[in-house]
Amino acid sequence: MNHFQLRDGVLHCEDVPLPAIAAEVGTPVYVYSRATLQRHARVFREGLSALDDPQIHFAVKSNPNLAVLKVLQQEGYGADVVSGGELARALAADMAPEKIVFSGVGKTDAELMQGLDADIGQFNLESEEEGRELADIAAQNGKVARCALRVNPDVDAGTHEKISTGKAENKFGVPINRAAEIYAMLAALPGLDMRGIAVHIGSQLANLEPLETAFGKVGALIAELRGAGQSVTHADLGGGLGVPYKAGETLPSPAEYGAMVARVTKGWNVALAFEPGRVIAGNAGVLLTKVIRVKRSSNASPFVVVDAAMNDLARPAMYGAWHDIDAVEPKGPRSVSHIVGPICETGDTFAMNREMDTLASGDLAVFRTAGAYGATMASSYNSRGFVAEVLVDGDKFAVVADRLLAGAIMDAERIPDWLV
Ligand code: LLP
Repeated sequence: MNHFQLRDGVLHCEDVPLPAIAAEVGTPVYVYSRATLQRHARVFREGLSALDDPQIHFAVKSNPNLAVLKVLQQEGYGADVVSGGELARALAADMAPEKIVFSGVGKTDAELMQGLDADIGQFNLESEEEGRELADIAAQNGKVARCALRVNPDVDAGTHEKISTGKAENKFGVPINRAAEIYAMLAALPGLDMRGIAVHIGSQLANLEPLETAFGKVGALIAELRGAGQSVTHADLGGGLGVPYKAGETLPSPAEYGAMVARVTKGWNVALAFEPGRVIAGNAGVLLTKVIRVKRSSNASPFVVVDAAMNDLARPAMYGAWHDIDAVEPKGPRSVSHIVGPICETGDTFAMNREMDTLASGDLAVFRTAGAYGATMASSYNSRGFVAEVLVDGDKFAVVADRLLAGAIMDAERIPDWLV
């Protein structure tokens, strides 16, 4: 359920008609619904209600906007961060340091130090090498880093290959068959407090079996570690739950996910943590765009050229991803169109031969399910600026990220004297 619904023929976000946002802020613009974010945060938490005090860390990469993080902070969420920049954002949104976990295969020494200085809750170590480096840095600074070892369970998540992370050939985590040995080695280092295992096998997962298989392997590893005398008090089960991108599509619910987790982790006797991103933010946002013109060519279907492009919403170009596209004020019969952006490559195509609301020049439309991995993946390709972002709350809205104009990006560049 989300709060982007038609009322009297006009698409609203909560109580705000989208044309009002377009008129005031311009297009393209990302629009997020506070009520939807809250609802998803609560539904996900309720799904885990059979567990004892689960810790939920929002995957900041999915939507790092400060206002979005603030909504989730107020819901008691912590943060899963993967860079110094994301860590700074989580702290700026007042997320408690102990509720921050730091994942990622390429944390630099500076980022490890930044995490230590902030006294974050946990580093999810992705390699033996990273563990040794963090141990050195921590010991040199008189600190002890709380850590989990991220394992690669070699499970096929059954999702797009570019967002699959738990196969042996993927760069993430340590091979699960070497995990016990690496864990013991890292646990012996004075700068580290090895306290558990982390796993994350991929994103937009459409069924629960791969997760269940991966968690089963983690359970066996925990038993093995304890059998070898190691202490294991925490397990971080990552994110990955998929969301519907097409109206009417059904995916496993947070309740089904929670029931599976409760069943598989029974008897683990650890504090469980989760890192959901898309399931919280995905359907809490749309990208609002305006039709520049409708171009008819030899094809049977017209090209509807909108003012949003692949630099604003990269997912269709990058993964061939589907986003439902709806008119803000649908009228007349539906028809078949190609929806494209203005960028000079064919990859800048959002949909081909899509049956959808008929759109004319000047009409507004939305790309749905754009609240996760939308604005955060934008670029300035073709010297386009960065899109503005708006948060709606009931009948009010606020710009929560200014539009960054192409000129502002150019201002950061210069021609050196010796070239003039
Ligand atoms: N934890 C870790 C360690 C992750 O790498 C990710 C996502 C998450 C949690 C959150 O996963 P989620 O609950 O959102 O599925 N740009 C791609 C998605 C990349 C996901 C990367 N990792 C897309 O647009 O589909």
